[in-house]
Amino acid sequence: MTSKIPIILDGDPGHDDAIAWMLAKASAWLEILACTSVSGNQSIEKTSYNARRVMTLLGIDAPFAMGREEPLHGEPIHAGNIHGETGLDGPALPDPTIEAEPINAVELMAKTIAASDKPVTIVATGPLTNVGALLILYPELKPKIAHISIMGGGLAHGNWTPAAEFNILVDPEAADVVFKSGLQLTMAGLDVTLKALVFPEDFERIRALGNPIAVVVAEWLDFFYTFHRSIGYAGAPVHDAVAVAALIKPEILTARDYYVQVETSGDFCRGATVADHYGFSQQPPNTHALVDIDREAFIDLLAEAAAWYGKESE
Ligand code: BDR
Ligand code: CA
Repeated sequence: MTSKIPIILDGDPGHDDAIAWMLAKASAWLEILACTSVSGNQSIEKTSYNARRVMTLLGIDAPFAMGREEPLHGEPIHAGNIHGETGLDGPALPDPTIEAEPINAVELMAKTIAASDKPVTIVATGPLTNVGALLILYPELKPKIAHISIMGGGLAHGNWTPAAEFNILVDPEAADVVFKSGLQLTMAGLDVTLKALVFPEDFERIRALGNPIAVVVAEWLDFFYTFHRSIGYAGAPVHDAVAVAALIKPEILTARDYYVQVETSGDFCRGATVADHYGFSQQPPNTHALVDIDREAFIDLLAEAAAWYGKESE
């Protein structure tokens, strides 16, 4: 095997963030250098606690640091209606054994990237507050960032407003910095993630693996599906795991390259990711936008990752 891709996991766990981290930890292609939390699905206190619990559960042995509560501009927005009061309601999880570093998320990202021999990939599955701040505060590190793989946005529509997806809407100014950065950017937006549906029979396949992580993943899916079923979905869209799948199995995804801009103002469209389909801007593409997924292969990927934890503990 060629050497592993060094990554930083930045997210707001969150059921689908947790499943994304489960997929990343199980992958032979990825090396997790650090994890960081961001305010989003719940307050920064809650997402940080959840991040530490998830790292402990999965055995992610890497430094962790907390982000901040506020986006770069405006007030925080949380999604307790989807992820519950804790931000990760559902199965009981272990008390965290991972402590937060005495530096903030952006400082840990910078320190990790500066210390890495190889350019680092950032997998961002929450609002882009930390990544945007990193690029503003440490522009000299940009050559050492290989790739940013995000879950966020959507070419066709939003899920928190008609135009905006949650992660981008929470911090459009940070997202704007990321999309304008000139760095390699993969966007797992709603165009693809709403096709990354995990159906109840898939939960049962994962549950039947029987190892403790697989059972927790199935219970996260049970919880995550409760909300989505109530709004008419046939399965749980495990949005954030697509940003990890893009690194380890890009062949199961279909992508198009576009110049994408983030709307930071507007009465109706703040937080929209606007793709230039017809070249009006005369700008080269800045975004590798994922638009479709082989759903069955995605389920296999999740199930194989969940099975890995059983083999690892033998
Ligand atoms: C995104 O919002 C959050 O609720 C999920 O964790 C995902 O990152 C989907 O819009
Ligand atoms: Ca998330």
